[in-house]
Amino acid sequence: MSESSAAAAAGSTAANRPDVERDPTSGLEPQAAVSAEMRRTAEEYAARDADAGEETRPRLDYPPYRSSLLRHPTKALVQVDPEGVELWAPCFGERDVDPLEADLTIQRGGEPVGERTVVTGRVVDGDGRPVRRQLVEIWQANAGGRYVHQRDQHPAALDPHFTGMGRCLTDEDGWYRFTTIKPGPYPWRNHHNAWRPAHIHFSLFGTDFTQRVVTQMYFPGDPLFALDPIYQSIVDPQARERLVATYDHDLTQHEWATGYRWDIVLTGAHRTPVETDTTEEGDA
Ligand SMILES: [Fe+2]
Repeated sequence: MSESSAAAAAGSTAANRPDVERDPTSGLEPQAAVSAEMRRTAEEYAARDADAGEETRPRLDYPPYRSSLLRHPTKALVQVDPEGVELWAPCFGERDVDPLEADLTIQRGGEPVGERTVVTGRVVDGDGRPVRRQLVEIWQANAGGRYVHQRDQHPAALDPHFTGMGRCLTDEDGWYRFTTIKPGPYPWRNHHNAWRPAHIHFSLFGTDFTQRVVTQMYFPGDPLFALDPIYQSIVDPQARERLVATYDHDLTQHEWATGYRWDIVLTGAHRTPVETDTTEEGDA
């Protein structure tokens, strides 16, 4: 189910509740109602036992993220034999990834519109050791907040020179690097006037298909952070802060591109929050 259709389905369920205030034009609940729910959860989390530790993953059944109510797992995950899965899973070799695929600004025969940006960082394990030769894939909206996807039909322009998809392999020190366009925020139908903070989706494959992790990178200082149920579904403030890149003026290139650095930590206490280890979705 796509993000928008899942949100609409969750919204239609809530539509049966007469006590829910709704916008008369969209039929969706207001931001204030969703923000109040997020605030209550944040207060409960802040008041947890001191030795409870840090929640480093998004909550899969986070009520302010409406569609998560319908699609979160209700049963324990079934462990599968990775050897059996790997027999049928896709695989790739070094030669399958062209270095030019890391530049999202040169794919379609012209300059895309928007702020040219370099996004780079290291993929490391919990001890800071580089994770080498890893496939890193990204997908994102264009500068106007529009995806090249048939389910994204909101009134923002597509860019004929921008697909929003790229990939690369980490080098011997675990570095990845993309040249892209800074994505714009975009609306979604979780509630009335819901907007996602600008973000780039990341997927890492690990050493085999069953180790895939998916997450999102954000840009610093976004005013939509406090309003976004997906970002706030990571209830620990320090954990979700690890999804925010750092502006790096040394990466910024004279008259060419701004630069952001974002490291991905796969394990340990400072692990980067991920949506799920084997997600099949993540289009919001
Ligand atoms: Fe998205």
